[in-house]
Amino acid sequence: MKTRVTELLGIEYPIVQASMAWITDAVLAAAVSEAGGLGTIGPNAGCTTVTRDVVETGERLREQIRKCKQLTAKPFAVNFVVGVIGWDRDYSDRCLEVGIEERVPVAVVSQGSPLVYTKRLKEAGIQVLHVGSTVRHARKAEEAGVDAVIVSGTEGGGHSGFDQMTTLCLVPQAADAVEIPVIAGGGIVDARGMVAAMALGAEGVYMGTRFMATEECPAHPKVKQAILEASDTGTMAIRHGSPVPRQDDKRGDRGFVEERRGSIRLLLNDFSREIIAAQGGNVSFEEVIAATAGSEENPESNRTLAAFLEGNLERNTITASQGSGLIRDIPTCRDLVKRLVAGAGPVLERLTAAYSNDE
Ligand SMILES: Cc1cc2nc3c(=O)[nH]c(=O)nc-3n(C[C@H](O)[C@H](O)[C@H](O)COP(=O)(O)O)c2cc1C
Repeated sequence: MKTRVTELLGIEYPIVQASMAWITDAVLAAAVSEAGGLGTIGPNAGCTTVTRDVVETGERLREQIRKCKQLTAKPFAVNFVVGVIGWDRDYSDRCLEVGIEERVPVAVVSQGSPLVYTKRLKEAGIQVLHVGSTVRHARKAEEAGVDAVIVSGTEGGGHSGFDQMTTLCLVPQAADAVEIPVIAGGGIVDARGMVAAMALGAEGVYMGTRFMATEECPAHPKVKQAILEASDTGTMAIRHGSPVPRQDDKRGDRGFVEERRGSIRLLLNDFSREIIAAQGGNVSFEEVIAATAGSEENPESNRTLAAFLEGNLERNTITASQGSGLIRDIPTCRDLVKRLVAGAGPVLERLTAAYSNDE
């Protein structure tokens, strides 16, 4: 396949494996890149413990980057989460330094302004893909000089946008708004979704949850099983951020003064259903985290570790895509990428036949 995205990144197929904290390590990223797509190393890749040490966080990332280079000679990406000054920016800054020192081929920059890291990454000769969830984000990323913009709709797992734009509406509007290539994410799990995204104007796809259910992903087997068992309505987007500003710790800097709409998409299981019901359906991500079995010192990371790597879904849940209902097996990355590419033919033939009946 050939699009501006394959040309830009030097890859065979315009399929980018999305970053997923804790479960997108060097092995997964290398497997996707070896299969002809672009693998992405995410935050806390390869880690099985929590560290609050900024330098150690950077060194852990360095190890993963070096491991990925040993496993593949093909391009791969590293996700740099911009984050918030005074809280997690120190970790992001250190990881960025390491990424530049190790000369990673591609950076996927997310959850923050493109003005923060783009210039430094470009000066270091690194291709920059910036993740956003509105047309405004896409325009801002283009103005900041990124090489391509990833727009990810609310269907997606993880943090899927405060404004809840759907992939169907977001992708064409972003593609019309910018000159640079657009890569579509959020709810894309099979060849039909990939063809649809390309029809909307995307030149590549960004897929997270589908890659969670692959052989190479380090997520616990119970997590992969939960994805296989999810139905079409098996996820729910909940608020991220307290409706009132928190003054009691550094997180108060985030200044959440209004009620944030759904932005973190949770997989519904007995645990999450119970908490959502107890709050009358109006629950925030922070309230869910507070109910999980994490330590006081670092509840979020421990929650994630316990759920994703240790498979404790009794006192936790995970974030996942609305597309989970379409995921029915756990292939290797190679088989998955092959299937995504080969599956496009029949879809296109069906469409061509349908349209030719009009002549
Ligand atoms: C379990 C999980 C963890 C995620 N962690 C991150 C992250 O650390 N950084 C980030 O930018 N996006 C993160 N995301 C969002 C994905 O990168 C991507 O936008 C999303 O998965 C795309 O939608 P899909 O799940 O429908 O494929 C995460 C998503 C999931 C499902």
